[in-house]
Amino acid sequence: MAIEQTFSIVKPDAVGKNVIGEIYSRFEKAGLKIVAAKMVHLSADKAGEFYAEHRERPFFNDLVGFMTSGPIMVQVLEGENAVALNRDLMGATNPKEAAAGTIRADFAEEVSANAVHGSDSPESARREIGIFFSADEIFSRS
Ligand code: TYD
Ligand code: MG
Repeated sequence: MAIEQTFSIVKPDAVGKNVIGEIYSRFEKAGLKIVAAKMVHLSADKAGEFYAEHRERPFFNDLVGFMTSGPIMVQVLEGENAVALNRDLMGATNPKEAAAGTIRADFAEEVSANAVHGSDSPESARREIGIFFSADEIFSRS
C-alpha cells in the first residue's frame, strides 16, 4: 500500500471542547504523521469554497455558519492508506451512528457539529490540501 496524504480538520466544536490534543493523539496512535498544521478562523467565502460540493444541500447554510463559528485546526496527515484510515478513525458522519471508539462517537453528539473532517478520496485530499497549504508548508516524512 502506497503512502498517502489526507486533509483533516478539527472543527469548532472540538476546539471549543479543548480536545485538539486528544484527537491528534488518535492520529498518531494509528500511525498517521501530522506533516502540516495550523489554526485558522474561516471566512464564509472560504468555508463555502471548501464545501462547494454541498452548496445545493439543505444543510449548507448551517454548515457554513458552524464552520465559521470559531477557530479550527487544519492538518495534513500522512501514512499508509491515510485517506481511508482517517475516515475509519473519524466514524460515521452522524455521531449517533458512529462506531464505538471513533472520534465522532467519543467527541460529538450532532451531525451538524461532528468534531472532525476528513477527505473522502485521494483526489479530494489534493484539492482540500491546496485550499489551505502551500507546498513549502508541508513536511513529508515518508
Ligand atoms: P458529508 O461530506 O456528507 O460528511 P463527512 O463530513 O462525513 O464527509 O457532509 C459534510 C458535512 O456536512 C458533515 O460533516 C456535517 C454536515 N452535514 C449536516 O449538517 N447534515 C447532514 O445531513 C449531512 C449529510 C452533513
Ligand atoms: Mg465529506
